Amino acid sequence: MLAERPKTKLLVDGGDPDETLRIKKLLGFVDGQTSNPSLSAKNPEVRRLIASGHRLSSKEEKDEYKRIVQTISPLVGDAGVSIEVFADLDTRAEDMLAQGREMFGWIPNAYIKYPCIHEGLRAAQVSVREGIRVNMTLCFSQEQAAAVYAATGGSKEPAYVSPFVGRLDDRGDNGMELVKNIQQMYEGGDGHVRVLAASIRNLNHLLYCFALKTDLATVPGKILEEWAAQGFPMPKHDFVYKAVDSRGTPLKAIPYRQVNLADSWEKFDVSHELTTQGIAKFVADYESTLRHSA
Ligand code: E4P
Repeated sequence: MLAERPKTKLLVDGGDPDETLRIKKLLGFVDGQTSNPSLSAKNPEVRRLIASGHRLSSKEEKDEYKRIVQTISPLVGDAGVSIEVFADLDTRAEDMLAQGREMFGWIPNAYIKYPCIHEGLRAAQVSVREGIRVNMTLCFSQEQAAAVYAATGGSKEPAYVSPFVGRLDDRGDNGMELVKNIQQMYEGGDGHVRVLAASIRNLNHLLYCFALKTDLATVPGKILEEWAAQGFPMPKHDFVYKAVDSRGTPLKAIPYRQVNLADSWEKFDVSHELTTQGIAKFVADYESTLRHSA
């Protein structure tokens, strides 16, 4: 077990309560959990139903998701359980909000995940006014993070923003630099938004989060297991992050941008092709559980 907890809160990135329990035993704690439509589609019970030829109705799909998060909820600490609304590119804020309100009632420690798009930000703005905690997902730019800051201003509870490190790395950009830039930008703010590093793909990402003292990181179980197997290494004071892809090719720098956090959120350009692609992938994975698949 871990002798001392890192400053970065650790969340399990998954959709299987048994995995969360296993990690909790391994680490001695789990601060929180994130889920998304792709991860719930991989839940063992959901896979079993689909493999047996059972086609889930959207109500059954929702009930399964609810069962998963209700089982995970008591296992985690104060970073809560993030539950993602179903949204495609045409989903209106009112629809996301109706889902968010319902999901927030499923468990006492819910964070509702809305995508970093115009309608998701609109839903978040109303949510925080109603006391619904939010986690703004699929964040790929500093502008999106600035819009999250502005849209959730005045929130009594911390709001989360989730920069997706691995998916930026996948296309050759240095995803960890986005985390660093957002943290730097928020230094000039009031602290109501917490940075939750997501799409963590390797131990190197995790160690750099520790070195940066990122507020939270959501990490797949297998990476936490790898960290445990290596005796829970922590970055030394002279830690240098190697920004390279899996083949050792250097990743492209993401330069810091000067943005004014005091601007209204509608002023920021929140479009990003990876956000659009991410929504399409979530929709496809969600729908894959609604029809028979091998
Ligand atoms: C968590 O909130 C995110 O949905 C998750 O980290 C995405 O990870 P991926 O890019 O590996 O799918």
